[in-house]
Amino acid sequence: MITSLRGMNDILSDDYKRFTYFIETASTIAKRYGFHFIETPILEETALFKRSVGESSDIVGKEMYQFIDKGENDVCLRPEGTAGVVRAFIQKKLDRAGGTHRYYYFGPMFRYERPQKGRLRQFHQFGVESFGIESVYEDASMIMMVSDILKACGIGFRLKINSLGDGNCMPSYRDRLVSFVESCGDAICDDCNRRKSTNPIRVLDCKNEKCQSLYVNAPKLINNLCSACESDFEKLKSLLDANNIAYEVDTNLVRGLDYYSKTAFEFVSDEIGSQSAIAGGGRYDRLVEFLDGKATPAVGFAMGIERLMELIKMPEETRSGYYMGAMDENTVDLVLSLVQKKRASEVVTFDYKPKGLKAHLKAADKVNARYCAVIGENELNEGVVWVKDLESKEESLIPQAEF
Ligand code: HAM
Repeated sequence: MITSLRGMNDILSDDYKRFTYFIETASTIAKRYGFHFIETPILEETALFKRSVGESSDIVGKEMYQFIDKGENDVCLRPEGTAGVVRAFIQKKLDRAGGTHRYYYFGPMFRYERPQKGRLRQFHQFGVESFGIESVYEDASMIMMVSDILKACGIGFRLKINSLGDGNCMPSYRDRLVSFVESCGDAICDDCNRRKSTNPIRVLDCKNEKCQSLYVNAPKLINNLCSACESDFEKLKSLLDANNIAYEVDTNLVRGLDYYSKTAFEFVSDEIGSQSAIAGGGRYDRLVEFLDGKATPAVGFAMGIERLMELIKMPEETRSGYYMGAMDENTVDLVLSLVQKKRASEVVTFDYKPKGLKAHLKAADKVNARYCAVIGENELNEGVVWVKDLESKEESLIPQAEF
């Protein structure tokens, strides 16, 4: 038997209900915030992710599904959604058009990680990207949107925020951090030794306990922000306070992708084990220019749908739609023509196989239909449909022309 690849799941039965419910809820809320749908290809040039997510990141350095296609192009399955949306934004010359552009998307992402609970090689994200707004109000609005989506799905969370500084304050902080890490000598792990020269701030995120105990004394980015970054971060906190969104400032929150500056945030759940990040995002004001577009401020986030499906509280299912069936071989064609009419406005389950009333009622119950409508010999002769409302239990005969 051929099975799906490791870390790649099918979504069906009850899972698909959770999946589609989440997408519908999140899309509705994103539209309320002024976002429009965007779809970008799953396959992109590898260079796009190398330049945006960054070659020093684990995502690009270790986890890409990368190959040379039949036309000798170096391509990969997208590991995340932001880079493709930025590429599309620049390709359509929207950076030159100015103004505000807001997009939401959902779809599969691919990372060759070691699969475990909550960590897949093909997973789905719901994400949004906002272009053209420099104001920290947009950052706050992103966080409020994630919070609204999670609340609508009955999901509890903790929010962590940090500021990663900008081109003014980050370089001097990075130098200080590198000096500090060098002062730790051989005590740090191999990964940190490598990160020290490729992407030093990632050391703060090291999972090694010994490294973490050393970095307690590391200089904190939050204490080294320039006045613009600091005032934005203060404003962000006051906006979250004013809107009753609880947060923790986590000075080690650096995110696993290289394109961020200023605001970085992550939503975590304490109910799904070690892979606890359910959403993450932040500002990336330099990325559009870095990918050869006109400098445009931007901010966004993405949510991991499989992790959220574990937590979502589904609304109670109510009976809806029709179940229709024939009780006699002679009536199947007539029922089919009525099913077709009904399907113009209702969900209809139709069983082609004629059977007795009891069996039909049982089948209607199984699909949670509101109405069970059947036609047998008697109904055929009298030109009616026998209908039972499975909620009120009321039974009636309705002329076929009116049905
Ligand atoms: P990210 O933090 O890498 O950010 O991913 C966002 C979310 O995707 C995570 O919080 C997690 O829920 C889910 N996720 C990541 N990897 C896996 C995996 N292997 N298995 C299951 N779920 C996973 C981004 O991707 C950025 N593009 C977010 C963003 C948008 N920033 C600005 N705009």
